[in-house]
Amino acid sequence: MAEKIETLLKASRVIEPTEKTKAQAYIKDYEKEYQRSIADPEKFWDEIARELEWFSPWTKVLEWNYPWAKWFLGATCNISYNCLDRHVKSWRKNKVAVIWVGEKGEERIFTYAELSRQVNRCANALKALGLEKGDRVTIYLPKIPEQIVAMLACARIGLIHSVVYSGFSAPALESRIKDAESRLMITADVGYDRGKSTNLKKVVDDAVANCPTIEKTIVVRREQPGVALSASKEIDWNEWLEGQSTTCEAVALDAETPLYFLYTSGTTGKPKGVVHVHGGYMVGTYITTKYVFDLKDEDVFFCVADPGWVTGHSYIVYGPLLNGATILTAEGKPDYPNPGRWWDLIARYGVSIFYTTPTAIRLLMKYGEDWPKKYDLSTLRILGSVGEPINPEAWEWFHRVTGGDKPIMDTWWQTETGMILVTPLPCVPLKPGSATRPFLGIEADVVDREGNSIEKGGGFAVIKKPWPSMMRTIYKDPDRYLSYWNNIPGCYTAGDVCHKDEDGYFWFMGRADDVLKVAGNRISTAEVESALVSHAAVVEAAAIGKPHKTAGEMIKAFVILAQGQQDSHELIKSLKDHVLKELGKIAVPREIEVVTSLPKTRSGKIMRRVLKAKELGQDPGDISTLEE
Ligand code: WTA
Repeated sequence: MAEKIETLLKASRVIEPTEKTKAQAYIKDYEKEYQRSIADPEKFWDEIARELEWFSPWTKVLEWNYPWAKWFLGATCNISYNCLDRHVKSWRKNKVAVIWVGEKGEERIFTYAELSRQVNRCANALKALGLEKGDRVTIYLPKIPEQIVAMLACARIGLIHSVVYSGFSAPALESRIKDAESRLMITADVGYDRGKSTNLKKVVDDAVANCPTIEKTIVVRREQPGVALSASKEIDWNEWLEGQSTTCEAVALDAETPLYFLYTSGTTGKPKGVVHVHGGYMVGTYITTKYVFDLKDEDVFFCVADPGWVTGHSYIVYGPLLNGATILTAEGKPDYPNPGRWWDLIARYGVSIFYTTPTAIRLLMKYGEDWPKKYDLSTLRILGSVGEPINPEAWEWFHRVTGGDKPIMDTWWQTETGMILVTPLPCVPLKPGSATRPFLGIEADVVDREGNSIEKGGGFAVIKKPWPSMMRTIYKDPDRYLSYWNNIPGCYTAGDVCHKDEDGYFWFMGRADDVLKVAGNRISTAEVESALVSHAAVVEAAAIGKPHKTAGEMIKAFVILAQGQQDSHELIKSLKDHVLKELGKIAVPREIEVVTSLPKTRSGKIMRRVLKAKELGQDPGDISTLEE
């Protein structure tokens, strides 16, 4: 790894912001503003919070009872009110809030007033089902506007949404419903992906069959004739909303009221329900969207994420709408029906801010520069990248094909952090491959195991002070929350290894633990392993990440077979199908190798590091704890 870092650093060039970029930017002098913000973070966050609307003010900005934080004490607010009503009351009433493009080319456009009416109807329909503040609603939808409507409707009346990415399989969905004990399920008949439809309703039927807490399932029916619904438990989305009033007052909620759970992978097989709250999360996503992307009223903001991931929560839905922005969101993949898909959308809708992922950029790179060249991309002014480290080659390509003069914001953050934490602002000089410097008000650092700051060199990425949009806990598992803060004294440990260079720039290098990043999706080795051993032919399994040209990392699994089982093409296929069924497509290992033993410590822990070193032909390092 050290070698990789050195070559990266050598390759780096510095790209100064253009005069034009600097002239328009909200923040023109990063160093000055950063120093001011961390000299008194509470004052900084207090000032930012005042840009939003609160029903009643706070008495204290922060109560910090290490490692438990409460922000904006005693204040009441509602994030949905700030996303909608704040704009509907203003000239933005008829401004376009959401432009949605479906995979088949359909277009739906919502002004702030229209989005607000839809959300209100949905909130009234939720109330009509008897749902009450604090109840959980699981949303398992493809990337369609109903997803945004349902999220905001829950928020409006204090329900907690748990959005589950629609690529997850029935068992994965089931465990997330069970953990949240949701009362309601909102889904659709199908999702579309590269021209094929996936039967989401079937996945939901299988999952809900084992979830007695679910009282009703709402189904958005996209196909004709509509899928059959069971009269007692299932309701068509349109019928559900029919007749509901288009006004519904947003409930005044304590700032610390949970807004959502979002399940993410950790180092064990059990996904964790990260808890975010209305007040602090609203402040963090609002200001990062505004400053990082320099978001102005004239902009068209295109974030390619799925709302099922945290990037979609924070930078499709909440952050942009809090700013009164016009967002573009499109169903489907970047290369379907052809690799010009996103470039075409950018040209067609005049996108000015484009937030994407390294995996998508690498995929588009494969199709060559002729595709972006075909389209007028001159409306673009700010670019963004998220989810995994962006290699300098992909950075340079993205920069070049979009005109060579638009800054790329390489934004580093996590589901747990809620908002972007380490990132350039448009006024910051860029180095391709580096997420540059901490956001205003954020004390990020690179430290050794004892927590000593590393002036220059590699170590662990940490955050030293609380920030408003940090997760408040892991649902039903406070110990797991504590483990983020117990790892390195006095710090929140992100789990990432990072290198700090002579200019204090951060170079994120990947995970320090057994969490993989496959095409930007977070997957734990333990989840894949437990899926594999639940197959009758497997007694033991170990999963590792291997570098992959487009996906960043791919999963390779090693399995020990049960007695009497034979390695064969059919068996490997059946193992892959099994993981597909248990977890979903994103977690299926690309390679599975049958072995007769696995490297273990004397206490029986599989040493994945040794497997990985062997696979990559590297030195395994210290193997003194290896049993055999
Ligand atoms: C990785 C995604 C390098 C990192 C928002 C982190 C990144 C994990 C970057 C969180 C980036 C995210 N550069 N690595 N710009 N952004 N990561 O929860 O390993 O899906 O810990 O949140 O993604 O993944 P999550």
